[in-house]
Amino acid sequence: MKTLAPLILFAACGGFSMSAGAQFAKTEDAIKYRQSAMFIQSQHVARLGAMAAGRVPYDATTAVANAEAVAEISKLPWAGFGPGTEGGKAQPDIWQEQAKFKELGERLMSDTQKLLVAAKAGNLDALKAAMGPLGETCKTCHDNFRKK
Ligand code: HEC
Repeated sequence: MKTLAPLILFAACGGFSMSAGAQFAKTEDAIKYRQSAMFIQSQHVARLGAMAAGRVPYDATTAVANAEAVAEISKLPWAGFGPGTEGGKAQPDIWQEQAKFKELGERLMSDTQKLLVAAKAGNLDALKAAMGPLGETCKTCHDNFRKK
């Protein structure tokens, strides 16, 4: 442990001085990361949406597996929106109205936790009820913070 400490400190300081924030070597990596997380999330949400809409048969096990993925992935994109990572389809307002953006991110994570609880309830009505607010949260944030 003793020998590791200076290394960790070094990594942390080096990270903070970079425009892309602590986790990413380049701004492009941060953008790609958050877009990838959003994309994967949307694929799992779409599968649940298809079930909720009756386009594919309801299957409780599949619903839980997808809801678990969504609950985890919804935690990820935010690290990709660090200081100085403007670009992609992200509106510059994200960096001007950080509190509002953060609040919507937190709302998403709370919605996806509720979705997981609903999926585990094992019935289609619970799943349907949880999908509505989640979709609304995606839309609200995109309307405010994503370029057309
Ligand atoms: C707190 C804000 C916020 C929430 C909530 C949010 N998104 Fe996004 N999303 C964004 C922003 C900003 C971008 C553009 C990122 C970029 O291009 O750098 C984006 C991009 C995307 C993309 C395009 C990714 C790509 O390949 O470029 C998809 C798909 C997406 N979001 C799906 C979703 C879905 C589905 C939900 C809800 C389950 C959701 N988003 C919730 C802010 C949000």
